[in-house]
Amino acid sequence: MYASRRRDQSSSARAEARRITALEDLLLAWYEREGRDLPWRRTRDPYAILVSEVMLQQTQVERVVPRYERWLARWPTAAALAEARAAEVIVEWQGLGYNRRALALHRAARHVAERGWPDDLSGLPGVGPYTAAALRCFAFGEDVLPRDVNVQRVERRTRHDFTSHAGQALMDLGATVCLARVPRCGSCPLATACPSRGTRDEPRRKQTPFHGSFRQRRAELLRLVASRPQPVETLEASVVEALGRDGLVVVADGKVRLPGHDE
Ligand code: ADE
Repeated sequence: MYASRRRDQSSSARAEARRITALEDLLLAWYEREGRDLPWRRTRDPYAILVSEVMLQQTQVERVVPRYERWLARWPTAAALAEARAAEVIVEWQGLGYNRRALALHRAARHVAERGWPDDLSGLPGVGPYTAAALRCFAFGEDVLPRDVNVQRVERRTRHDFTSHAGQALMDLGATVCLARVPRCGSCPLATACPSRGTRDEPRRKQTPFHGSFRQRRAELLRLVASRPQPVETLEASVVEALGRDGLVVVADGKVRLPGHDE
């Protein structure tokens, strides 16, 4: 009895392993055919991957591609970025949103240029657990699957844990097919095996509108100051204060300016 139970278990374990491989194989075959050709997928340079991941944290892929290429043409290495002045970095980041990310990337580059890549990547400025996992997987080739919201959604819907080989493919499936609100199950390579086929997620809380928001006023004030230093009394004090706290502007001699002009 024990022997047969063992046999049953091992054959069901084998069947499970086959199902897992089959699902991942279906995904990888789809990615071969349909995967997006994105510039950060042609490199394993950790600095380039870091730039891409920080840009992608809150900005869409299409908007990131040209900015990523321009950034790397201007600062091809962490050492080159480390040499830049903060003001230049903030200006180059304009239009990508969430300007604090630019300064964090700059500080991370300075850390790497001075001390190399740390063992704990999430100790770098601007690098949380997701970005650390992306660096470990895409740059350092470690067996870690970076789970952004798209990857999490595909795993939740398929009730399946994918391996680190599937990282880029899962990101594409989640971004182009397994969409949160209108999943395109008709085009999905995993549809036949997916227990959530044909279901959609509840609408999420709407993002607060950008227009007229504090975030918008921050972005506009920073753009103005980036064009030239401004008299402090002409600007909204609470916005200047918030940007100053984040190190994006400095106030001196009655003027608000970008930091790092005299570094
Ligand atoms: N979003 C975050 N990282 C990404 C990547 N490597 N490819 C596409 N989208 C992403």
